[in-house]
Amino acid sequence: MADIGVEFAGLSFRNPVLTAAGPAARDGKTLLEAAEGGVGGLVAKTVSVRPADVPKPNMAAIQKGRVGSRRGILNAELWSELPVEQWLEREYSLALSSGLTLIASLGYTPEDVAQIAPKIEKAGAHALEFSTHYVGGHVEIAKALRESVDIPIFAKLSPKVDVADVAKSLEPYVDGIVGINTYGPCLRINIETGRPMLGSEAGEGWMSGAALKPIALRCIADIAQVVKKPIIAVGGVSDGDDAIEFLMAGASAVEVCTAAVLEGPTVYGRIAKQIEKWLDDHGYDSVDDIQGMALKHISKKVEMRSASRVDMEKCTLCGLCPKSCVYGAITMNREEEELLIDEERCERCGLCISVCPHDALSAD
Ligand SMILES: Cc1cc2nc3c(=O)[nH]c(=O)nc-3n(C[C@H](O)[C@H](O)[C@H](O)COP(=O)(O)O)c2cc1C
Repeated sequence: MADIGVEFAGLSFRNPVLTAAGPAARDGKTLLEAAEGGVGGLVAKTVSVRPADVPKPNMAAIQKGRVGSRRGILNAELWSELPVEQWLEREYSLALSSGLTLIASLGYTPEDVAQIAPKIEKAGAHALEFSTHYVGGHVEIAKALRESVDIPIFAKLSPKVDVADVAKSLEPYVDGIVGINTYGPCLRINIETGRPMLGSEAGEGWMSGAALKPIALRCIADIAQVVKKPIIAVGGVSDGDDAIEFLMAGASAVEVCTAAVLEGPTVYGRIAKQIEKWLDDHGYDSVDDIQGMALKHISKKVEMRSASRVDMEKCTLCGLCPKSCVYGAITMNREEEELLIDEERCERCGLCISVCPHDALSAD
């Protein structure tokens, strides 16, 4: 069986799937539930010098009626509503009783973090993640933390900055980069009332979940190409394949927020098992074997030279690819158990290959 334990920045994790700052990591109890759910390591909700005054309502699904964890939400949750003193006295020690590595998240100004970081270090956290969430001042915050604590420091970036530039400027002062925070501002309107769905200023919220993943993946690849320090990826991870993509793009681990909100704390163990199975099925011994594997291909142009072809051993005739072929090149014959691809009609757009849930389609 593949070894899915990971080590970076002097920290050890039993698998590469971590909690993320958010409602599913809002206190010691939820962090312990994540530990029981099979998480590899803990990242706690962001704390600051004063508790957040969180608007209500503060979460809205991007689409109604969908089920499963591969969805998105908008949120206006801000940082922890609990006073930092409560985290220092109770919540961190409860989380630490799991025996897992704990990364505490904090924000937002150099003065704020310099004030609370030494106390968090004393409370036993193994590392810090600072969140700037569109506030900026990354390097000043990193420097303030460097002068305040000895434990590893991770900088969490938002997708609207030039992540490669910012990561590069931070590299001398931090032990790793985390990317990305939510994207926004965004908006949802309740069409029954005509009002925004969130109770924040102008009803604005920040997007997370499935829709964020391609943005996050591009950010991680950008950062990995310019920075040598470890990277933790976060944004739309809801299954093992998502996590593998991020590891291939250069991440050392992933954090999961929205999928944990939507599915509950067993999500972490499920994703970790899926990573292990994928590594086993593909003949890899450890996460290290695939880490950063896609980067060498990113600078070269991928070209689809042949029409799509199908492997009938893998095809289940589910019907998804003919439906998604806008050129009408794919037809299915259920009676003959055949999937036919018309090479003349196939425009080599590649969509069917990415749509197939069974990896039955490929091309040269
Ligand atoms: C409701 C909610 C609250 C969040 N709170 C925080 C926070 O306190 N600090 C932080 O750095 N990120 C926070 N995030 C961002 C997540 O940690 C994560 O970066 C983002 O949601 C993308 O990951 P996901 O697609 O797995 O949710 C929050 C996200 C959500 C959805």
